[in-house]
Amino acid sequence: MCGIIAYAGHRPAVPLLIDGLRRLEYRGYDSAGVAFIQQRKIHCLKASGRLSALERTVSSFRMPLLASSGIGHTRWATHGEPNEANAHPHLSNDGGFALAHNGIIENYREIKSRLAGLGYVFYSDTDTEPLVNLIAEERKKTPDNLSAFRNALLRVDGAFALSLICLDEPEAVYAARKDAPLVVGAGTEENFIASDVTAFLPYTRNVIFLEEGEIARVTPSARAVFDLRTLEPVSRHVRKIDWDISSAQKGGYKHFMLKEIFEQPAVLRNVLAGRINPGGGKVELPELEKLPRPARIRIVACGTSYNAGLWAAPLLEQWGGIPCAVEIASEFRYRKPILGKDELVILISQSGETADTLAALKIAGASKAATLGLCNVIGSSIARGADRVVYTQAGPEISVASTKALCSQMALLAVLALHFGLRAKTFPVEKAKEELARFSQLADLLEGHLPLLRREVEPIALRAANAKNIFFLGRGQNYALAQEGALKFKELSYVHAEAYAAGEMKHGPIALVDRDFLTIALAPRDEHLPKMISNIQEVAARGGPIIMLGQPGGETTPESAQFWSIPECPPPFAGFVILPMLQLLSYEAARYLGKDVDQPRNLAKSVTVE
Ligand code: AGP
Repeated sequence: MCGIIAYAGHRPAVPLLIDGLRRLEYRGYDSAGVAFIQQRKIHCLKASGRLSALERTVSSFRMPLLASSGIGHTRWATHGEPNEANAHPHLSNDGGFALAHNGIIENYREIKSRLAGLGYVFYSDTDTEPLVNLIAEERKKTPDNLSAFRNALLRVDGAFALSLICLDEPEAVYAARKDAPLVVGAGTEENFIASDVTAFLPYTRNVIFLEEGEIARVTPSARAVFDLRTLEPVSRHVRKIDWDISSAQKGGYKHFMLKEIFEQPAVLRNVLAGRINPGGGKVELPELEKLPRPARIRIVACGTSYNAGLWAAPLLEQWGGIPCAVEIASEFRYRKPILGKDELVILISQSGETADTLAALKIAGASKAATLGLCNVIGSSIARGADRVVYTQAGPEISVASTKALCSQMALLAVLALHFGLRAKTFPVEKAKEELARFSQLADLLEGHLPLLRREVEPIALRAANAKNIFFLGRGQNYALAQEGALKFKELSYVHAEAYAAGEMKHGPIALVDRDFLTIALAPRDEHLPKMISNIQEVAARGGPIIMLGQPGGETTPESAQFWSIPECPPPFAGFVILPMLQLLSYEAARYLGKDVDQPRNLAKSVTVE
């Protein structure tokens, strides 16, 4: 996700801003920029690529850098290619404001077209540039910059963490947050604003974490926080933090993996932002407007991304009305597949650089089939090579074990299924309204359950960590989740774990079951539950120890089963609460076993080799 740093104080601002951006590099980015006021003008210096490119741009600036306030930004592209024009900060047409933004403005297209009608011009594809010009437009009708900033934000739908400078207030920096973190650093005769404390930790450990819906104004000698709606002052205590840099980068979590598991509610909001309209029973995927309805879909991916496809295939069939097959890329690429011209090949890849998936893309691209990339990294090879691409907007995933990316892939594939069903009118609008209403509540529901699941997991994880062999069993979409659970467990704890379709057990694998072979059964209260209970009882009858993830009020389970309650969640969205349970299970087991959680042995974040 993007990184923000802003400064108002007594030091030369630009070098400090770049130093702060360097501390935010771990967040991942593809372009960067700074903005500052000098000689009664706002200067925006930006560059695509690494910070070194920005430093070259700054070093060629034609005058000494005297400004003692300014804003800096590292961009993780969500709207628009990663290039200099789209880099932040963005300047308003009148040169009066510069804005840096983290988040997604859902209604930016409407704002942009209204401003264009007023004569504004735009030089980027971002959702941020319309907002900085909206602030300038509002300033014409308000007595001060704070009111203009607030009025503009009240017209915005979506998530934002913002920092703003105003030409007529060279000493001040403004900030505002909604569904994206922002923190104020309280120094001596200097103040900071940043996406996380890492950016200014060497200068101050005194912080004010802005709350939802708050707006702040800082100068070298003053800090003020207001309610974004009313502009009533809000009193905020300054907290002293004792994190070191590493734990600050993890937001206080012990590992990136845990941080990214807990980011999943925010990721759900991001991936659905601007794409679902529950009231209207509609979904918006403008990237696919001109894509003809395929006669069949073939999903091709690796690892966790393959499991996303397995989970979504039933939805693409039941909701989208299109036959859907899922293949492992490393098999697909060598079996000379027959691809029809009426076929859509979807390549799922978080990194967009996985060699086997890229090879599959080349094969599909050489056929008459259409190709669609479903990626997280903007401008990645698969994203650029496919006919079309939709982005999961999960933000950079640092931990090698993929967690939040899978959550975003599942959500986006469910939106895709509805897109096909609604466009073909095979999915009733009234039912879409119901499903989308549930979908829109999922992030809050997950946010509420995660802390309890985190507290509950330890005894279960310790039991699994001491197993020598584990079956993960599931049926239907829970089989895909069982696959993911087994993959996570293997790659994090190095304990042998394999997933099986529960109905397959009697065809051989049950021969392995004895008191040393643990079974973890995914058994939410859905249409598969009665059969799952039978499978669990078959395992229990052979003395196999069982951990059952289930929902209270389901069928009776064997006395021997250790029960872990799945929070109430309507099918088919139960997967979004089962998934973090499996992730936490593997995380806690690996931690208990003393494994390297964020960098498991033998693994790479992106497998760019065969
Ligand atoms: C997931 O935890 C693994 N790190 C791995 O299976 C990964 O999902 C796979 O390599 C595919 O990566 P991609 O999504 O970037 O293509």
